[in-house]
Amino acid sequence: MGKSKETIRGMFASISSRYDLLNHILSLGFDRLWRKKTAKLILSANPTKVLDVCAGTLDLSMAIASQSGFKGTVIGADFCKEMLVLGKKKIEKERQEPEVRSQESEKSTPNPKLLTLNSNLIPVCADTLYLPFKDNSFDVITSAFGIRNIEALKDALSEMRRVIKDKGRAVILEFYKPKSTFLFSLYLFYFRKILPLAGRIISRDKNAYYYLQDSVVSFLSQEEMKREMELAGFRKVSYKDLTFGVTTIHIGTK
Ligand SMILES: C[S@@+](CC[C@H](N)C(=O)[O-])C[C@H]1O[C@@H](n2cnc3c(N)ncnc32)[C@H](O)[C@@H]1O
Repeated sequence: MGKSKETIRGMFASISSRYDLLNHILSLGFDRLWRKKTAKLILSANPTKVLDVCAGTLDLSMAIASQSGFKGTVIGADFCKEMLVLGKKKIEKERQEPEVRSQESEKSTPNPKLLTLNSNLIPVCADTLYLPFKDNSFDVITSAFGIRNIEALKDALSEMRRVIKDKGRAVILEFYKPKSTFLFSLYLFYFRKILPLAGRIISRDKNAYYYLQDSVVSFLSQEEMKREMELAGFRKVSYKDLTFGVTTIHIGTK
């Protein structure tokens, strides 16, 4: 499967209704933890305006907006309307939280998964390569597992840099191949045998999880991604591996 915009958008539209479930099952539940760590790192810079690109069903946007002490605005942008619509439904559910909680407490103990959205969270349908925002608009730009899917990485990074303020930060969470040979063999077995089968059963799209495997295996290394960020003009570029380097958070400053 190629990386053309229409192919990518169509694939995410076709798996959108099962995307969250797939994500949680196939990452063995780690995806929530990785996004939470990313959200905490973002909040350490005390931002008031955050843009989450390739935001999908808005899980990272929600993880940021629900951090205690954050009173700013998060814009969650994605070019796949189907993914955003599902994210919007999740926000609406969170906003009914007090009502839901009181109904729940009548029945049983409250649902601990309900988050508190302290801030504005606005979904926007937009292409990361042509962001509909003025230069220097955001304190932080972020993305979780999205950058890998963009056909023109260099252009995407330049566009991301354009919309953040001077000294603003880019915080990018992405999947990588593990560096240890042993872990990489296990990983390939999981990706080639288990993940496509599970993905096909749950998503009913046989191409979707072959694509996922290919997109991770053929993506850059962490060092190469660091170099791409530097070439796009980011300064003080660094990265932090999570869970044996299966995912990495990249940080850069404008
Ligand atoms: C793997 S999902 C990640 C979603 C979400 N960030 C998460 O943490 O689960 C990748 C998302 O990137 C979006 N995407 C890919 N290329 C894009 C582009 N050029 N502009 C905007 N969104 C894009 C897809 O529509 C999809 O929702």
